[in-house]
Amino acid sequence: MNQLFRHMLDLPPQASSLARSIDTLHYVVIGSAFFVAFAVFVLVVYFLVRFREHPDRPRRTAKTPATFEIGLVVFTLAVFIAFWVVGFAQYRQIRSVTPGAIRVYVVAKQWMWEAVYPDGTAVQDDIRVPVGRPVDLLLTSRDVIHSFYVPSFRLKQDVVPGRITTLEITATEPGEWDILCAEYCGTGHSRMRGRVIALPPAEYAQWLQSHPTPDLASTGQKLAAEKGCLRCHTVDGTPHLGPTWKGLYGRVEQLADGSTVVADEAYLTESMMDPTAKMVRGFPNLMPSYLGQLAGPEAAAIVEYIRSLR
Ligand code: CUA
Repeated sequence: MNQLFRHMLDLPPQASSLARSIDTLHYVVIGSAFFVAFAVFVLVVYFLVRFREHPDRPRRTAKTPATFEIGLVVFTLAVFIAFWVVGFAQYRQIRSVTPGAIRVYVVAKQWMWEAVYPDGTAVQDDIRVPVGRPVDLLLTSRDVIHSFYVPSFRLKQDVVPGRITTLEITATEPGEWDILCAEYCGTGHSRMRGRVIALPPAEYAQWLQSHPTPDLASTGQKLAAEKGCLRCHTVDGTPHLGPTWKGLYGRVEQLADGSTVVADEAYLTESMMDPTAKMVRGFPNLMPSYLGQLAGPEAAAIVEYIRSLR
């Protein structure tokens, strides 16, 4: 029944926990409008014939409304209020916040969607969420008013600069669901698209751990300054006490002992922890060991920063 109506109305797939109930309300509202319109049409035809003017029939005069008519008006109003009550309950569900829900900041800007996760991960245009877990989207805009529209989730919400609007969604179907901008926001409006990628929980956890985190690089930049790396290493290619970091990642380095090494994650981490292990030719042995000075994620952040200087 649901699928039949969905196809008749040409609605997109139902991929969120609320989509089904929003559609059901939609079917009932459209169905009752069709039914009432049809009933009025039939009655109009019937009355036209039944009460047409006839020389033998006396003219009728208008009477005060009967109980039946008052009842009809009250019933109609009650039906409309019922639609509103159901719709309001759905609205409250979208606005409610489940404790323990995943929080994702969604920043709209001309003309893209950026998702920022609690661990600092920032990704453009793709918002990954696990299926079956509530996710709170904290929407805000950096410039003008946009509108976050995910047809398959039956969600549409204005995104206003200077304000955070929270929407709670639970994806029910794995897949990629379009995000569109539904508020004209400039010349790139029609290209302001993204995707909600709903992943099975295990895949989501895997992604959260494995994907490259652009924000890690800026953490690394801060650490590099704090820990004194930048006193000897430049990031703009100028020669200094140590090899410059600009373009270092992936470069083939000539070592003092005549061999070469590719500056990859492993080499860079080793050089931080044990600088004398592989000395680059032409540089003095000045670097202190950072073993014990840098936690694992900190070293990773610095490597990530060096990687970003390619
Ligand atoms: Cu953003 Cu239209």
